[in-house]
Amino acid sequence: MSGTNHKTALITGASQGLGLALAGQLVKDGWKLIIDARGETALAAAYRILAPHGRVVAVPGDVTEPAHRQELAEAAARLGGLDLLVNNAGMLGPSPQPELLDYPLEILEQVYRANVIAPLGVVQAVRKHLKPGAVVLNITSDAGVEAYPGWGGYGSSKAALEQLSNILAAENPAWRVYWLDPGDMRTAMHQAAFPGENISDRPLPEASVPGIMALIQSDRPSGRYRASQFAGAASTI
Ligand SMILES: NC(=O)c1ccc[n+]([C@@H]2O[C@H](COP(=O)([O-])OP(=O)(O)OC[C@H]3O[C@@H](n4cnc5c(N)ncnc54)[C@H](OP(=O)(O)O)[C@@H]3O)[C@@H](O)[C@H]2O)c1
Repeated sequence: MSGTNHKTALITGASQGLGLALAGQLVKDGWKLIIDARGETALAAAYRILAPHGRVVAVPGDVTEPAHRQELAEAAARLGGLDLLVNNAGMLGPSPQPELLDYPLEILEQVYRANVIAPLGVVQAVRKHLKPGAVVLNITSDAGVEAYPGWGGYGSSKAALEQLSNILAAENPAWRVYWLDPGDMRTAMHQAAFPGENISDRPLPEASVPGIMALIQSDRPSGRYRASQFAGAASTI
């Protein structure tokens, strides 16, 4: 462990992509981590990458399920509370994404459950374990504010997560609540959003991590941020 702090973070969806990249930086900076994902094999592989650097607790499960959110809360209690909650797990929906007039409503419900209801459910589950001054970081998207044709399901769910975060911040001034657009990243979700397309020109998720670290370590007020606005941030703060 290279860092000296004794802070604890819960990151949802940390078996790959942005969640794993952010977990890697936090654990190297000395943070204790709780991570989850549905796929147990990939989560175990992520654990093997992270655990040599510090204290990591992996809790396999689905954030849309209340029983799993309770398990996350119990893990948070065992580690003495949370300084940071990152609601990172998310769902794109169908690939390719249908336009709204053709969007299957039962799948839209699943997207909203994963991208809106579950993040609030995690906050509700761990609320007693969020330390004073804790950071709640909800990962949103430019698709939550831009009107990209074909992005109506995912985009409107991220818009809902943004306003939910905004009101959560107003209701809980003791926390810093951030809703953050990480930018385009070369991940499985991004490939699913652009099926058959060569996405090798998109930056890896590690490129978004310095900006996110800069925000976490800042004293910026609750609000909406983009990882790219902290361009030039050092990778270890
Ligand atoms: N990639 C981009 O260009 C981009 C741009 C803007 C915003 N974002 C946002 O950034 C976040 C991370 O995206 P990513 O691109 O890194 O995605 P990713 O590579 O697909 O990784 C998603 C992670 O979340 C987990 N996950 C998904 N659903 C879950 C659930 N219901 N319960 C628990 N874990 C779950 C996945 O594992 P399992 O499938 O095994 O559960 C995986 O570990 C998302 O919120 C996404 O909307 C991404």
